[in-house]
Amino acid sequence: MTDFDFSVERKRTNSIKWDRYPGRDILPMWLADMDFQCPEPILDALRRRIDHGVLGYTYTPQELYDAVLNMLAEEYDWQVDPEWLVWLPGIVPGINAACRSFAAPDEEVITSLPTYHPFLDAPQISGRRLLTVPLVLDRGRYVMDFDELEHSITPRTKLLELCNPHNPVGRVYTREELTRLAEICLKHRLCISSDEIHCGLILEEGARHIPIGALAPEVAAHSITMMAPSKTYNIPGLCCAFAVIPNRELRQRMIGTMRGLVPFVNVLGYIAAAAAYRDCHEWHQGLIAYLRQNRDLLEQTVARIPGIGMTHIEATFLAWIDMRGLGLEYPAKYLEEFGLGVSDGRDFGQAGFIRINFACPRSRLKKALSILEDAVGQLAAAPSGEEVPLAH
Ligand SMILES: Cc1ncc(COP(=O)(O)O)c(C=O)c1O
Repeated sequence: MTDFDFSVERKRTNSIKWDRYPGRDILPMWLADMDFQCPEPILDALRRRIDHGVLGYTYTPQELYDAVLNMLAEEYDWQVDPEWLVWLPGIVPGINAACRSFAAPDEEVITSLPTYHPFLDAPQISGRRLLTVPLVLDRGRYVMDFDELEHSITPRTKLLELCNPHNPVGRVYTREELTRLAEICLKHRLCISSDEIHCGLILEEGARHIPIGALAPEVAAHSITMMAPSKTYNIPGLCCAFAVIPNRELRQRMIGTMRGLVPFVNVLGYIAAAAAYRDCHEWHQGLIAYLRQNRDLLEQTVARIPGIGMTHIEATFLAWIDMRGLGLEYPAKYLEEFGLGVSDGRDFGQAGFIRINFACPRSRLKKALSILEDAVGQLAAAPSGEEVPLAH
């Protein structure tokens, strides 16, 4: 059993998260990978495969089909035909392939703001047009503004990009919300590309993740549902994900877009994914319990810091903090001056916010929160006109 309090040294271990600030003493709490060691059953499976000594090209192993189909049936009561699965070396290639497959050049792709930045990049990279509709706060909860969404759709809008659970706002959309969203998409003949990479990270007691493709057969026929073990079991570097695409025509379009460009999943990614879904149930429960406590600590701390705020995190290990009250142009840069490395809201399409990854040993989270408190306090304490470290 992993001791989540144990601090693994990640500096100089080929980690994008930890290598971002060379020569500077900055605690990295930005990129969405966890600082925990991945579960022992995954490491064991990888060791056994590596000991074989040959790492060639590979078909998707039957054990992975079995593990994924079981997981979808048990967790979501979703009976999936193995033919519907399209294997991906990451969700981001899936997001990009979906844009190219389901909207033609100059047609429109619509999504909510803020959002995971590849949703914003993908339409632009491929010459599609991006439409955005802000999420709105309703009784302290981020929700979609369905009227505004429907109002924004034009005859050229062909694809909706959904993030559920939502990065960065941490929402788990309810059946009612998803049903309403799907009704709008079906009415206007939009395809739905749903990124559900955080579906194994539901922190809210009683909340349930609902895959978009499991909502109703007519929704399944117009959607692609993408999932991966990478966030939940901390194996994002192994690059194994999948899309469930029940509609044959949509599936053929995705496969056609990817052909010759998107690499096959590698053998270690496959082996790790199978072990994750099959053998790591207990570890997963331990992780969720630990993350809940980290989330509670973070929410309580933010609540007592004047000038900043956040909504309750229902899922993910990411906190979306509103710093607009502090009047900083680049709050993430400001915090770097104090030794805290977070993501800036601008990356997600909303300036004035920061995103903190709290999937780390509690001692590290406490240190990060104390830096945050101190940095914000100094700002509040500075008489107007007095120099505080500049946000660039
Ligand atoms: C919502 C979301 N989708 C996709 C990814 C990345 O997926 P992948 O590494 O499989 O391309 C992330 C990583 O942070 C994410 O938060």
